[in-house]
Amino acid sequence: MNKAVFPGSFDPITNGHLDIIERASKLFDQLIVAVLINPEKKYLFSAEERIELIKKTTYNYKNVIILSTADLLVDFMKENDIKIIIKGLRAVTDFEYEFQMALMNKKLGPDTETLFMITRAENSFLSSSSVKQVAMFGGKLDGFVPDEIADSIISKMKNYRR
Ligand code: PNS
Repeated sequence: MNKAVFPGSFDPITNGHLDIIERASKLFDQLIVAVLINPEKKYLFSAEERIELIKKTTYNYKNVIILSTADLLVDFMKENDIKIIIKGLRAVTDFEYEFQMALMNKKLGPDTETLFMITRAENSFLSSSSVKQVAMFGGKLDGFVPDEIADSIISKMKNYRR
């Protein structure tokens, strides 16, 4: 089976992530969205919440599955027999970080390949951090995250601000 992994923090998933998931799911038999748990990182949403939000927005993509891991990405890939990493690129500013990550993953897992998909222009300014900030200050999330999860993000951020 032709498989790929789309790894990330997804804290929370945005329309930018969803667009990559939709487009990548058409290129592979199976796309595994891997929710990474990094003990060094402070997430706003728990791993369970991040997974739940992704599930709510991807249930109609039949070949997309959501898993989480606290392992190195290449180890997760080996365990799940995946060779391809999909990453979304928004702008030149993403490139340096992604370039470094791709080379590190190649070193750690020589039989893996990182493939980059350029984000749609309308999502190119979107990030999980900016979505959280807009919600925290009471802004609307229309067009930034899928409609079905906007309210959960807004209410989480309201509680966070208190
Ligand atoms: O959405 P993000 O936070 O930009 O995603 C980054 C992520 C989770 C893809 C990256 O940090 C990652 O792959 N973490 C897992 C640990 C790992 O394998 N790191 C690569 C070597 S430094």
